[in-house]
Amino acid sequence: MSILDTYILSHIDPESELLQELTRDAHVNLLRPRMIAGHLQGRVLKMLCRILRPRRILEIGTYTGYATLCMAEGIDNNALIHTIEIEEEMEDFMMKYITRSPYKDRIRIHFGDAMDVIPLLNETFDMVFIDADKQHYSDYYDLVFPILLPGGVIVADNTLWDGKVAEIPPSTDKQTRGILKFNEKVKQDTRIEKVILPLRDGLTVIRKK
Ligand SMILES: C[S@@+](CC[C@H](N)C(=O)[O-])C[C@H]1O[C@@H](n2cnc3c(N)ncnc32)[C@H](O)[C@@H]1O
Repeated sequence: MSILDTYILSHIDPESELLQELTRDAHVNLLRPRMIAGHLQGRVLKMLCRILRPRRILEIGTYTGYATLCMAEGIDNNALIHTIEIEEEMEDFMMKYITRSPYKDRIRIHFGDAMDVIPLLNETFDMVFIDADKQHYSDYYDLVFPILLPGGVIVADNTLWDGKVAEIPPSTDKQTRGILKFNEKVKQDTRIEKVILPLRDGLTVIRKK
């Protein structure tokens, strides 16, 4: 972590004890703790929720529930987050923390492939957080766009993919190709306004006109 990163984290809202405990547990017991949104991005997601005041959020890719918990902190009492995770083995880990959160009633967890689960939700959304399989970002986008309300926002994580988007990827690198396809689709789409924030691994914020 750079000196500037340390400075930023010491001058923004702190993480709750629960989120700190979750992060420590993930670093000891999970294979890919780097996938967690983390302190800065978590506070950004909460702040976006505070500003946008979404009634229905869809999160694609729950993992530990870290980002879910951050967004749950930021939404109003009657608002809901539907979050989808393909790996059922993550259930015990995420439930350890979600059940202890004062905001647990704002969270609905679904297990399965997002491509199968989303059509069954029978909901419209005013905010979507895309953070699952990089190969399928473009598919998630196409699937959620019709159920995103006008003025609604899609936030997509990892859209700079460790800087790999600026290079020509080998044909075997399906994840980078997936991100490149998504970024190109977003660039061409005139139904939206968009900006890429160079935050952590790149966060694209898209607003449906
Ligand atoms: C980067 S992690 C999510 C991190 C979490 N959003 C956070 O910020 O703390 C990506 C998660 O997406 C899940 N995933 C991958 N493909 C999926 C799919 N098709 N449907 C639902 N979840 C999927 C993975 O199992 C993994 O747990």
